[in-house]
Amino acid sequence: MNTPAAPAVQHDRILVLDFGSQVTQLIARRLREAGVYCEIWPYTASEARIRAFAPKGIILSGGPASVTEGESPRAPQAVFEMGLPILGICYGQQTLAHQLGGTVESGHAREFGRAFIDVTGECAITQGVWAKGGREQVWMSHGDRITQLPPGFRVVAASEGAPFALIADDARHFYGTMFHPEVVHTPHGAALLANFARLAGCQGDWTMKAFRAEAIARIRAQVGGGKVICGLSGGVDSSVAAVLLHEAIGDQLTCIYVDHGLMRHGESEQVVATFRDRFNIKLVHRDASELFLGQLSGVTDPEVKRKTIGRLFIEVFEEEQAKLGGADFLAQGTLYPDVIESVSATGGPSVTIKSHHNVGGLPAHMRMQLVEPLRELFKDEVRVLGRELGMPEEIVGRHPFPGPGLAIRIPGEVTREKADLLRQVDRIYLEEIRNAGLYDAIWQAFAVLLPVRSVGVMGDGRTYESACALRAVTSTDGMTADVYPYDMAFLTRVASRIVNEVRGVNRVTYDITSKPPGTIEWE
Ligand code: XMP
Repeated sequence: MNTPAAPAVQHDRILVLDFGSQVTQLIARRLREAGVYCEIWPYTASEARIRAFAPKGIILSGGPASVTEGESPRAPQAVFEMGLPILGICYGQQTLAHQLGGTVESGHAREFGRAFIDVTGECAITQGVWAKGGREQVWMSHGDRITQLPPGFRVVAASEGAPFALIADDARHFYGTMFHPEVVHTPHGAALLANFARLAGCQGDWTMKAFRAEAIARIRAQVGGGKVICGLSGGVDSSVAAVLLHEAIGDQLTCIYVDHGLMRHGESEQVVATFRDRFNIKLVHRDASELFLGQLSGVTDPEVKRKTIGRLFIEVFEEEQAKLGGADFLAQGTLYPDVIESVSATGGPSVTIKSHHNVGGLPAHMRMQLVEPLRELFKDEVRVLGRELGMPEEIVGRHPFPGPGLAIRIPGEVTREKADLLRQVDRIYLEEIRNAGLYDAIWQAFAVLLPVRSVGVMGDGRTYESACALRAVTSTDGMTADVYPYDMAFLTRVASRIVNEVRGVNRVTYDITSKPPGTIEWE
């Protein structure tokens, strides 16, 4: 099992140099959907590092700066001399034009949102996608514009507001778009990006099947005969990481599941059944609910709750790993969005809205090397990998669940009784969502137990019991979220089941706050 791995196949790759656009990650998503491996690096990457990465093509992303400002970012000049195809998007187009001898000016009409452009020519990236003479919808977001093309370039598509909407230098394979091909509001944008990748020579053979085989080889090469421990949270990322690791190194892996007693109904049992019984993974299930609930007694401040849970989690995890006699490696389900080196547009520190507690936050003194087999993947790719590994849909397709669990869905003091009550409400709510076939259309749905009691009437009697709130949102990354628009019949059905079946709850409300200004969780 521990034979050294053959070096992983090097797939064709595209490098995305990031100038800080909000949508840079979508460039990577679109390329990967086309089977092309790519990475996002800050525009400050050195020439040596870029050459070592050996990309087949380079994309310069959009960004918030203005090329006309003296201090604004530039692509490393060397990228234009590597003989590689280059695509500049929005700010990337402007810096490309500026750096190659064109002129960019500010002060023109700003254009944001949906726009239509006329396709006046053809080039390699429009082939089979846009026909000459056509009119195409694109997503614009720009203030500055090119006023004089650099030598060698010509216009392929234009509009009155964007005379250089798409430009091409066929000889060098340099392209620039004033619009964002990576967003869905540019309907054929993904095909334009795929064309760029193909013309750069990318085969489109980066599939999850290939990733799985390579990841296993890499894990074996890194771990050798060492012992690995992995913290399981019941969530998608750590679960997929565990199954992948197990496939690579079998019994050298032990998973530790710290059960804080704040999981949803039936989830702890499911974690144990899935990993221990179905996948045969060595699993330590530590029921630490007494400890967590004891220390949370009297705590009402949301941040103190989070910090208490984070601290206890580490204590218990350390205890359990010491019992195992330590390990050489700690495995984590870190994802690509967590490791992308960010280009801070403003340079200012951002405000901490909530301190996130994750399995990742283990202290340095644990001195184990990290194994992070998912660090190249986006969340939806992790789900695809999970399916590829034969994992059950209930785990792979599961909604995100916060590390501190139900504690942050019980405003005020958390007690075992309240957690039990919330679990009942939450179970009914999720059951109804599944029965209605809505689970996969929703990013996250859960119930919140409110610290309020209200008067009700049941039969002939007066009740004075707890109120709960239901929440359901759609989102792509949890950064922003919209309220899920249930129909009233669904909501009233759920409310009636909850009030009838859960003793202690007599009122149900639906949270209709989007994010921002609300957050998804209540604390
Ligand atoms: P908010 O409430 O900040 O949540 O809008 C955004 C997303 O993050 C999840 N969340 C957490 N996930 N540890 C986690 O692993 C945490 O401490 C935590 N707090 C919030 C939340 O469920 C939503 O998906």
